[in-house]
Amino acid sequence: MNTPPASRYEALQKVTGSAIFEAEVPAAGMLHAALVEAPICCGDVLSLDATQASALPGFAALVSYPDAEALQPSPATALIRERVIHFAGQPVALVAANTLLEARASASAVRLVTQARPAVTSLTQALDKSFAPAIVGRFSAESRRGDAARAMTEADIVVRNRYDTAVNNHHPMEPHAVVCWWEGDKAVVHTSTQAVFGTRAIIAHAFKMPASDIRVIARFLGGGFGCKGQLWWPWMFWALLAAKRTGRPVRLELTRAQLFTLVGRRQETVQDLALGFGADGRLTAIEHHVLAQTSTHADYSDSTAVYSRLLYACPNVTTTHRLVRTNEPHPVPMRAPGTAPGTFALESAFDEAAEQLGIDPVELRVRNFADLDQETDRPWSSNGLLECYRVGAERFGWSRRPAQGVAVDGRWRIGWGMASTLYPSIRQACKVRVELSADASLRVQCGTQDMGSGTYTALGQMAAQALGISMSRVTVELGDSRLPEGPFSGGSQVTASIAPAVEMATAKLRATVAQMASTDERSPLSGQRAEDLDFQDGMIKSRTGNVGEKLTDVLARGAAGGLEAEGESAATNLQSLAVSSMGYGAVFVEVGVDAQLGEIRVRRVCGAFAAGRILNPLLAKSQYVGGLIGGIGMALHEMTVTDRASGRILGDTFADYLIPVHADMPQFDIAMIDEEDRHLPGSVKGIGMLGTAGIQAAIANAVFHAIGKRVRSLPIRIENVVA
Ligand code: MOS
Repeated sequence: MNTPPASRYEALQKVTGSAIFEAEVPAAGMLHAALVEAPICCGDVLSLDATQASALPGFAALVSYPDAEALQPSPATALIRERVIHFAGQPVALVAANTLLEARASASAVRLVTQARPAVTSLTQALDKSFAPAIVGRFSAESRRGDAARAMTEADIVVRNRYDTAVNNHHPMEPHAVVCWWEGDKAVVHTSTQAVFGTRAIIAHAFKMPASDIRVIARFLGGGFGCKGQLWWPWMFWALLAAKRTGRPVRLELTRAQLFTLVGRRQETVQDLALGFGADGRLTAIEHHVLAQTSTHADYSDSTAVYSRLLYACPNVTTTHRLVRTNEPHPVPMRAPGTAPGTFALESAFDEAAEQLGIDPVELRVRNFADLDQETDRPWSSNGLLECYRVGAERFGWSRRPAQGVAVDGRWRIGWGMASTLYPSIRQACKVRVELSADASLRVQCGTQDMGSGTYTALGQMAAQALGISMSRVTVELGDSRLPEGPFSGGSQVTASIAPAVEMATAKLRATVAQMASTDERSPLSGQRAEDLDFQDGMIKSRTGNVGEKLTDVLARGAAGGLEAEGESAATNLQSLAVSSMGYGAVFVEVGVDAQLGEIRVRRVCGAFAAGRILNPLLAKSQYVGGLIGGIGMALHEMTVTDRASGRILGDTFADYLIPVHADMPQFDIAMIDEEDRHLPGSVKGIGMLGTAGIQAAIANAVFHAIGKRVRSLPIRIENVVA
């Protein structure tokens, strides 16, 4: 059910400023909150004295550890129940006051006494204390098939290197915020979250109250990228406690600097990767060992090496993950978690192998195509990777690739590189409600939120198309826990999760309306079989005869009060599937490197992606380009730096944390290869993460092609090129 390239449902609201983001929700008598942060990165809070702070103008409340004792213990309340400092900037209290300035003044007047303990402020400092986590993402932490060590000794060539990737921070334009209040025992929580229902569940657990007494609302988000989830919950709890204590609404919004410490980050990795090949270019062995940072208060690991288990055909594969605890902020998923850092290593090594084997990098990948899931021996539900190589190479002009190191353009030395990308196709449970009015306008409701990626538009389009009405007749309501329960926005799952639910709900409406028409003697469709009726252009038409009737006429006679229906879909149960399902892509990049100044420019990117059926090419292109830009940021710009002496984040502003800007943008050519996938409802796979992986290695490979220098560390900076 491909739909036209409709522009965004909420575009007008956003560009005119009439879209209300939750931090802007007005509330009478609202208090503003500021957090009191720990100055040390490891130790204990000995005392907290608010005598002076509470005498300042506007002060209304301070909440801290003792208040959190009323909350039920869980990982989400741990940080505010114990007085242990795990990282610099960890909040130790929240102050609420009449204005934000007064809240900040009071917060800085809180007298905090801490006792420092020796800290670990870098991954390398505690290598001897590394440990294997229980799981990595949704996967087992270790894998072993065949005998990689032995196969490596028998390989014709072996590429063995260390790759590392820096910490990145997500930085959505809109920072995390909550405006919350209590109505008796009921909580109203306006917050910018990727998980309306997850937020409701965690509040219900912490406050020991029924979920039905909590309303969480997130109608618009200015981005999320993985950081608008669990980590920020403790501070939201404090805001709720302050609202309870004062009987007034409380507003807390994080500062840009706090987004470096309080909401998660892309995990730092050190990856040891070895690939063994026969002289024919066939992979015989892969060893991929990952070491990564986690915090001292919880375990988190990306599935960094997991994709090395299944991207290519290979009989002997060993992967391991180990974590090191440091007194730094806790990592969480960040766009293309696992695949982005993991494919940087794997796809860089593939390029080195191609060089050594004298085989074209595309050809080497084609030769190692996996025609089934190597881990489980299951067939793919569909797999368009070979088509991605073919289409991408053709559009990019890969066959005209110059020899390494010879192409120049003025001061620029030109290099071409490519890499593969992939992401699993999964879905969560979802419910959707639809209401069709007698005037053939439609209301579609789902509680899931639109992270900014186009959920309003996708849901509205699918519903409009199913009933053959124009998108302008559809109202979409999202982002409210009072609406039917929908998925969290993560793992590129939302569109795939809502598609079958909205299809079921609209199919019910179609069946009811078709039945009404075909059994009504007053209708020209009387006597037609309901299954022969099509909904198009506001009409119900018979596919067999040349008859039809306006949808509004049928409704006026049979359903003057309107109709409603619900649809639902279940989550993917990965274990029980007979097939494996992935989206794939091939990314081709041209860079220019000024070898004297070390400047690197991405000049041209072609991404060819095969990820099921594309519902809206405009939205999909925007997702792919956005993903690729994120990948360029990871490859060339973004790096969060810890001061090893204090454990504090250095340069926690956009002046120091570099992100790609318009001047960094190349031309993007996006090829979307439509796939039929009879195993997936509606043939829908997720696309959000695909563009964010692969491009890092493609850029590193292009830099090598330009200047003959292999950079195995992200981001690739001027000093990596000139030194
Ligand atoms: Mo994401 S990293 O699944 O928001």
